[in-house]
Amino acid sequence: MTTQLLTTTEQDLNIAAAIIRSGGLVAIPTETVYGLGANGLDPAAVKKIFEAKGRPQDNPLILHIHHKRQLYDFCRELPETALRLADTFWPGPLTMILPVRDCVPKVTTAGLDTVGVRCPANDATREIIRLAGVPIAAPSANSSGKPSTTTAEHVLHDMNGKIDAIVDGGPCRVGVESTIVDLTGPRPRLLRPGGIGPEALEAVLGPLVIDRAVTGEIAADAVVRAPGMKYKHYAPAAEVLIVEGSRQAAAAWVRAHFQPGDAVLCFREELPLYEDLNPTAYGAEADPASLSAGLFAALRKLDDGSVTRIFARCPTGGGVNVATRNRLRKSAGFHIVNANEA
Ligand code: TXA
Ligand code: MG
Repeated sequence: MTTQLLTTTEQDLNIAAAIIRSGGLVAIPTETVYGLGANGLDPAAVKKIFEAKGRPQDNPLILHIHHKRQLYDFCRELPETALRLADTFWPGPLTMILPVRDCVPKVTTAGLDTVGVRCPANDATREIIRLAGVPIAAPSANSSGKPSTTTAEHVLHDMNGKIDAIVDGGPCRVGVESTIVDLTGPRPRLLRPGGIGPEALEAVLGPLVIDRAVTGEIAADAVVRAPGMKYKHYAPAAEVLIVEGSRQAAAAWVRAHFQPGDAVLCFREELPLYEDLNPTAYGAEADPASLSAGLFAALRKLDDGSVTRIFARCPTGGGVNVATRNRLRKSAGFHIVNANEA
């Protein structure tokens, strides 16, 4: 299969929508990461997503809609909290888990009686969904287990020859996947931190239950509410080790352990401390949005086969840093040292 590269002209968006309607696979830009999209109501099309990604079949997909009114088409019940969240954060990086209607096939929801729904903040992609006339089921457009894709080049690297087309919408602004909140239980539960910080959600919802998948390591056989959270994730070929602690202590620790083939992934402010070690900055610590936007691209850049170990600096605090920290910890397999105590 030849993978067609499309732009965001009206003509190309029509081509993308036609491919979706006819059961093909199109990578779509969103504000979070690129998605690997298919008609979410067509079981045969959705199966192709799992094949192209090498994704386990028990991992459900998010259904992308172009307007919040489509919630009524695919969700059986809509708690008042769902409408409030949609009004506040959509279009935007928020996925809500809600009771699913029978029109959504089992392969999309991995057999669950719930569905994840999101209205992305990307005009081109919302237009494709509108033109296609069907919701688009889409996981992140990376090979399963690898860092998510935040540019069309990343998608081409992982998916060339496996999908029909890629719509190039430029680099993703947020850079980490959407926040997932489960509204099917007695209290709203945060399943995955993302572009919308927990504080912003709590300002609308009141106190959130934070699922242990957000902070801790999960055994592969554990029963988890977001099935995707249990798999190895965001991992480059190199081993990732997070070095926590003050700037000076971390730099001293890295210098004491650095060997040929190792790499440093740090904040822009720290580049001078690692000058002679060819460091990579993924963003500025003073600008959390730059860290989330740059993380996956930096992990991919260091995934060229020549790097054996990555010493990574990880942000503290709330907001989108919660998501950046969650992704970096997962890519490190929760392998963390505290240089202040070392
Ligand atoms: O920002 C995003 O959410 C991106 C873009 C493309 O929209 N999509 C994305 O999809 O990150 P994916 O498949 O890589 O991650 C979706 C996560 C998985 O961990 C999956 O298990 C969980 O959402 N999920 C999907 N449906 C669910 C459901 N009904 N109940 C619980 N978790 C669900
Ligand atoms: Mg993913």
